Amino acid sequence: MNPAGDLNILLKAEDLLVRRGGVTVLDVPALDVFSGQVLALIGPNGAGKSTLLLTLAGLLKPARGTLLFRGERIGNGGFDYRRHIAMVFQEPLLFDTTVFENVAAGLKIRGIGRAEIGRMVPEYLERFGVGHLAKRSARKLSGGEAQRTSLARAFLTKPKIIFLDETRPPWPRPMTRRRPSGWATDSWWSMGEGSPRSARRPR
Ligand SMILES: Nc1ncnc2c1ncn2[C@@H]1O[C@H](COP(=O)(O)OP(=O)(O)OP(=O)(O)O)[C@@H](O)[C@H]1O
Ligand SMILES: [Mg+2]
Repeated sequence: MNPAGDLNILLKAEDLLVRRGGVTVLDVPALDVFSGQVLALIGPNGAGKSTLLLTLAGLLKPARGTLLFRGERIGNGGFDYRRHIAMVFQEPLLFDTTVFENVAAGLKIRGIGRAEIGRMVPEYLERFGVGHLAKRSARKLSGGEAQRTSLARAFLTKPKIIFLDETRPPWPRPMTRRRPSGWATDSWWSMGEGSPRSARRPR
């Protein structure tokens, strides 16, 4: 389905129109996200940054347009796009259970077994600096702790694309040889096989 030149395009948006509350918030003629690419989206409050991320993550249905992941159309029930991506929201969304269970949730949804979950979750909790909070209720976390928990959950699933909405550093040490593509609205980051480089967006 992909023309040869488009092999590196992971996500392709065409003619996107998104309305919220009856108002047109986004009108994006074309957008390509390439494999290995890190993109940052900046703009004033209310510009539509979160709306674009939610739409590209398949969480908001556009009024018009198409989204293709590796040439396959998203949203027609043909394949489970959500398994290939992860999103960390502007306000971290955590379940009313422990930090451990929240981070394990992404693996459970993917049908990963208990032994693997028991091995991987502590590793990722440590990487994101919340290992000591494993048994804590996710409802009793500070904002930064909640965001770290949310990041651990997102990265643990080793997504092909990760959407980060105003997620603050510090970033994790690299944990996969394959580099996910990323979208961030308030920070830029790079994740390679050597030492990580991370920084706040220059101001
Ligand atoms: N649930 C909603 N219902 C109706 N309108 C909404 C809703 N959420 C956002 N909007 C509107 O859509 C527009 C884009 O909002 P969005 O949250 O995408 O902006 P943003 O660029 O992420 O802003 P911020 O920098 O404040 O996070 C704004 O005008 C906002 O008021
Ligand atoms: Mg926003």
